[in-house]
Amino acid sequence: MLIKLLEYHPSKNILLLGRCNIKPSKMEYRLFSVPFFAFFVALLLFPLKTVCEDLSYNIPEETKRQYVIGNIAKDLNMDVKLLSARKARIDTDDSSKRYCDINLNTGHLIVAETIDREELCGSQNPCTLSYELVLENPLEVHRIILQIEDINDNAPRFANERINFEITESADKGQRFRLHEAHDSDIGQNGVNGYSLEKNKHFILIVDRTADGGKYAELVLEKELDREQQKEIDMILTATDGGSPQRSGTAVIHITVLDANDNVPVFSQPVYKVTLAENTPSGTEIIRVSATDADEGPNGEVTYEFSRISDKAVKIFSIDKTTGQILVIGEIDYEKDKKYEMGIHAQDTFGLSSTAKVIIDITDVNDNPPRIILKSLNNPIPENSEPGTEVGIINVQDKDSGENRQIRCSVQQNVPFKLNPSVKNYFSLVTTKALDREKESDYNITITATDGGSPPLSTSMTIHLFVSDVNDNPPVFEQQSYSAYIRENNKAGTSVCSVSANDPDWRQNGTVLYSLVPSEVNGVPVSSFLSVNGDTGVIHAVRSFDYEQFRNFSVKVVARDNGSPPLSSNVTVKVFITDENDNSPQILYPVPDGKSLMTEMVPKATLSGSLVSKVIAVDADSGQNVSGYVCNHSSLR
Ligand SMILES: *[C@@H]1O[C@H](CO)[C@@H](O)[C@H](O)[C@H]1NC(C)=O
Ligand SMILES: *[C@@H]1O[C@H](CO)[C@@H](O)[C@H](O)[C@H]1NC(C)=O
Ligand SMILES: *[C@@H]1O[C@H](CO)[C@@H](O)[C@H](O)[C@H]1NC(C)=O
Repeated sequence: MLIKLLEYHPSKNILLLGRCNIKPSKMEYRLFSVPFFAFFVALLLFPLKTVCEDLSYNIPEETKRQYVIGNIAKDLNMDVKLLSARKARIDTDDSSKRYCDINLNTGHLIVAETIDREELCGSQNPCTLSYELVLENPLEVHRIILQIEDINDNAPRFANERINFEITESADKGQRFRLHEAHDSDIGQNGVNGYSLEKNKHFILIVDRTADGGKYAELVLEKELDREQQKEIDMILTATDGGSPQRSGTAVIHITVLDANDNVPVFSQPVYKVTLAENTPSGTEIIRVSATDADEGPNGEVTYEFSRISDKAVKIFSIDKTTGQILVIGEIDYEKDKKYEMGIHAQDTFGLSSTAKVIIDITDVNDNPPRIILKSLNNPIPENSEPGTEVGIINVQDKDSGENRQIRCSVQQNVPFKLNPSVKNYFSLVTTKALDREKESDYNITITATDGGSPPLSTSMTIHLFVSDVNDNPPVFEQQSYSAYIRENNKAGTSVCSVSANDPDWRQNGTVLYSLVPSEVNGVPVSSFLSVNGDTGVIHAVRSFDYEQFRNFSVKVVARDNGSPPLSSNVTVKVFITDENDNSPQILYPVPDGKSLMTEMVPKATLSGSLVSKVIAVDADSGQNVSGYVCNHSSLR
């Protein structure tokens, strides 16, 4: 028969149901009646033990078997021997484990099974075990209450050994991150008592109390994070209990620092300097600029563009948006621009940007041939010019620079001209010797200008120079003297002969006019005998000549050119008059006496061929005209 009673629990000031067993004679239910209430009040005032003679012991957990909890005989004021006589035993009210037993020989209540408070009660406090001590003869039931005391046999433990946080690098100082509590199976002082954090640069720990009196910790950001410096932070969090000896448990706090776009792209150089030869073909890469952004992902993706660029340069250079590669896309001409300077801009996806400068120095290439400019030219040049006479002035130019614009100038070998350098790229073209138009009337003067480039470039110019005439040649007769023969009895106007003189000069300076030098022949002016055609040099007889009067004479012919002043030369023309048979012979012997017969006596025996007589005749003519005798009849034998 069970009698249920309210049990007073001294440590917690609550009432528990307790019971006394009275077996087996009578059964009685005591209900919560007024008298019971009085009894209940009595319970409050007096220890339970006195009511049911209960025995209460405190026992630390984890004690070994046979540990002596107390002495029952002594506590019940009984002789030890009676225990076995009265069959003292510990009963459990159900099949649960029996942790204690009684040593009947000594009366000791001993530990039968090691007690783990945490297993038995968990967080429940107090932790009690109730048993009944049964004595027979007479039946007596005592309650034995074991109060299990906690010892610090458990360390604090975190649910996870690794506590992960993802915190953006832009998190503000003072921001808090609550940490999971550690658990300690022990209770009270032996439970979790505090937390500590491994020393680190960024976080401190604040420990606070929960509403139910537990303790929790919060990470507090003490110094801002920078993902670019440290991407991950590991710290050891330690939870300690208040037991003695103290126990602790740890977990690793792993913080992943998330990126914020807090870095601008940074160029590898503030100024990029490049030297580039002119005429570099389109498509050539000049340089690759590069800016790095320490941020991650789109925060760190950099694009490039020109920020400041002249209208000219924009047609010549391009920049690749993603690679930063700068290319030539137009014509680079040193003669137009020697230097380009532009700004470049690097920007991440969200607009953080920075700038740098690109300076491109263009170097000269010998791509411009020299230019020859004829500044003045005396054309034609008189042939009597002194050696060293300046004929013309030329100027040479080259758009290139440095060596590439150093110009040498020359004239070809076989002409009587040279170039004299004058001031700064000016040259005067001068003659080197006397000229003679009659030998060479024009020159092709080729001037060559060569620059100092490598390879050199050159330009030529040909000047077609004419030599103008000067009357420097007198007419010259083809013969040193002329002889003319004319028959007497000629008709007036008959041409006697012709003279010819040449003058190599030009036009009127070379035009020859003939005339007779006035003189007299036998006291008669020569012009009454002869005349000369001024243009042709043909000499005519002015009258008929008589051989028998005079046989020859000389005359001088002058050839004169038309220059100013004129030049002349003269030549002698000898005129011979030839005989004509214009006179009959006159027989002087035998003297013609009017009779036409002449008798000569010849011996008969005279041989053929013998001289018989002589006939003598004279003739005013000469030569053949007086050359023979003819017998008219054959009487002469
Ligand atoms: C010079 O060149 C011109 C034209 O080419 C030519 O007619 C002339 O005969 C040349 N003169 C000389 C002296 O070479
Ligand atoms: C002839 O020579 C003179 C100098 O003696 C010169 O002045 C003149 O121009 C020349 N005439 C021609 C046609 O060349
Ligand atoms: C003819 O020529 C000679 C020699 O050249 C010169 O001395 C003389 O004066 C000239 N006579 C005339 C009439 O020109």
